[in-house]
Amino acid sequence: MPTEPNKRAIAVSRSATAATPRGDVRIGTPGISRLADGLAFLREFLLRPGTVASVAPSSVYLEQRVVQAAALTDARVVVELGPGTGGTTRALLRAMPPQARLLAIESNPRFCARLRQRIADPRLVVQEGSAVDLLAHLEHWQVPAPDVVVSGIPFSTLPVDAAQRVAASIEACLAPGGRFVAYQLRAHVAFCAEPHLGAPQIDWEWRNLPPMRVFCWVKPLP
Ligand SMILES: C[S@@+](CC[C@H](N)C(=O)[O-])C[C@H]1O[C@@H](n2cnc3c(N)ncnc32)[C@H](O)[C@@H]1O
Repeated sequence: MPTEPNKRAIAVSRSATAATPRGDVRIGTPGISRLADGLAFLREFLLRPGTVASVAPSSVYLEQRVVQAAALTDARVVVELGPGTGGTTRALLRAMPPQARLLAIESNPRFCARLRQRIADPRLVVQEGSAVDLLAHLEHWQVPAPDVVVSGIPFSTLPVDAAQRVAASIEACLAPGGRFVAYQLRAHVAFCAEPHLGAPQIDWEWRNLPPMRVFCWVKPLP
């Protein structure tokens, strides 16, 4: 797992762009930024449909629903699996407390470069790699048990053993009382997570392409 290059890239992204008080970068108008993100996302989808899994980034409505389910008011450590072009990442950062940290794990190197270039927020670390190695990434960055794990990765196209490993890792790492929020069209994530975390709360967000289910689990307190 790369260490120094990744840390250097994060440092560069901080200095190369102007941040708002919470560090959320705006490039041009939000509309133009979203259009650019949408085009970049579509390009990667056409190249890698199985891993990108959606034709367009999440809508603002889906972002809001995910953030609401994540209940971030008191979160200290948040992990995002599959940040893509960063719309969900920005939404999480806006809702997170100033001292919280966000570890974003993304397998697509072009998305990682884009995230580092466009989001200058000292709370964010972008880790290139697979969610399958979640526990190793957490250990590498020495982050304590996450209060929230948010996932947009396509459980339906992951090999079954990999999907099961991700779900088991999430349960293993989450703090007691922590939340796992997954937005997916299909229900594979529930089949993988239910043996570990029980039945989820499920809400549909129709104002998204495609419509998505938002699954939410809360890890029981001991
Ligand atoms: C449906 S997109 C969600 C993107 C973004 N969060 C959004 O809502 O617009 C899924 C993302 O998961 C990433 N991904 C797929 N498999 C992954 C894996 N095993 N580990 C990490 N990221 C993965 C893809 O590259 C893509 O960026």
